[in-house]
Amino acid sequence: MKFKQEINRRRTFGIVSHPDAGKTTLTEKLLLFGGAINEAGAVKSNKIKKGATSDFMEIERQRGISVATSVLGFEYKNIKINILDTPGHKDFAEDTFRTLTAVDSVIVVIDVAKGVEEQTEKLVEVCRMRKIPMIVFVNKLDREGKDAFELLDEIEQKLRLKVTPLSFPIGMGYDFKGIYNIWESNVNLFTGDPKKDIEETVEISDLSTPELDDLIGTDAAENLREELELTQGVYPDFSKDEYVNGNLQPVFFGSALNNFGVRELLDCFVEIAPSPRTKESDIRLVKPDEDKFTGFVFKIHANMDPKHRDRLAFVKVVSGKFERNKPYLHVRHGKNLKFSSPNAFFAEKKQVVDEMYPGDIVGLHDTGNFKIGDTLTEGEQLNYRGIPNFSPEHFRYINNADPMKSKQLYKGIEQLMDEGVAQLFTLELNGRKIIGTVGALQYEVIQYRLEHEYGAKCSYENINVHKACWIEPKDPKSQEFADFKRVKSKYLATDKQGQLVFLADSSFSLQMTQQKYPNIHFHFTSEF
Ligand code: G4P
Repeated sequence: MKFKQEINRRRTFGIVSHPDAGKTTLTEKLLLFGGAINEAGAVKSNKIKKGATSDFMEIERQRGISVATSVLGFEYKNIKINILDTPGHKDFAEDTFRTLTAVDSVIVVIDVAKGVEEQTEKLVEVCRMRKIPMIVFVNKLDREGKDAFELLDEIEQKLRLKVTPLSFPIGMGYDFKGIYNIWESNVNLFTGDPKKDIEETVEISDLSTPELDDLIGTDAAENLREELELTQGVYPDFSKDEYVNGNLQPVFFGSALNNFGVRELLDCFVEIAPSPRTKESDIRLVKPDEDKFTGFVFKIHANMDPKHRDRLAFVKVVSGKFERNKPYLHVRHGKNLKFSSPNAFFAEKKQVVDEMYPGDIVGLHDTGNFKIGDTLTEGEQLNYRGIPNFSPEHFRYINNADPMKSKQLYKGIEQLMDEGVAQLFTLELNGRKIIGTVGALQYEVIQYRLEHEYGAKCSYENINVHKACWIEPKDPKSQEFADFKRVKSKYLATDKQGQLVFLADSSFSLQMTQQKYPNIHFHFTSEF
């Protein structure tokens, strides 16, 4: 009984946005409501500050902060909330995609003036495809921005969502008077005081009441009545089922900086957001309330102290109860492992705990056993899927710049790849190593970390690769496949799992190759 209650009271989610829309500010205000922190400014933004002297030194600085903000847990109204941090910078988009495999729902933050931006589009597309329930928060209503209807249209079109507003702004920018909370049928008046936790709220069950005119003025009241009538005509009624199934996205308006509209968002969130969900594995669907523990690694964070090379693996508990000191099967290695000091995350602290429930994130100290995507069970041979590698955007040869340190170099590369910093490909022809990354910044990060954590030096050399495709022949014994391997031997490599990869040098040559070998499948992700 207690087990089921614990599952039902958990909400594990991520906040996604384009940098600067207000993700950090919103996170902080949510933590303030949960009483998890006492003052504003306590949550450090892990974004890369514009104009920093060197982007990658800035990343190193941020890496320290992002351990602390990777998982922020707190309680609100007897609900255990876990916020999983998602980097907004596009070069780290893969980290965010991987974290999205561990959330049960998402809040999307949009800047009222800038509307839907590039990173938001990409991240929402991933959530939409995976049917992750989403709530949209339109932020910075204290500033001049787009008209609410225009913005709702833009969200529908650019993000291909079906929205329904659950609150509606009264004025904007200089004239911002507050919001009408459709979900709770009341008006919240905007005072512009960020220190106020709870704004002044007036119940308005009947919109025609003259009280509304007294509160916000006759013009604004008339306007609001018209707008709300219009929303009722245009947008569907909110349905929790539709939202949970990823078919309808409720929208809230507010100003995170002014702590306005945040309580409304949180109150609605704890009521409608799903508790931990059933997850697909390679052999079956796994339900959270099953007796036996299962979980998977979605993030690995290297220790910041170079003298201790241990790492923290972040495991999402999918089913059963995780217990300290109990042996669990590391499915990929076929080994049993015990953890004597598993960490739970609260606000900005971590703490050793004895048991964890589905929806929780456990931090496990690791000396190199884990890589992203690994599954832990009580003995069952199952693997969680959904953490594929995508074709990188950038490719370079990596060379050893200090022949005395080749062991350190290979160890370092191996571990950085397990952490998911980049992908390694080994050319079939001559064994040369190629590093593929999402952003150019990662090359500097890798070079810096190899030197500072592993004492190894590397240099890079350009290589002309357009895309990496994972190869799957219909018949591995066919003449066609043998011909392909012979003719294209120069372009073939293996990834870290030993899967065969075709490194196409242009989109044209990729097309030609696909046409020439119709019985070979060219996949753009590693999981097929
Ligand atoms: P991010 O994590 O999504 O990148 O955004 P973050 O919360 O850091 O917010 C980006 C900027 O927007 C910050 O200003 C923040 O203060 C501001 N902001 C957030 N919410 C609101 C809001 O409701 N209204 C207004 N007017 N501004 C808001 P900054 O100047 O870049 O940083 P800071 O010096 O204030 O920390």
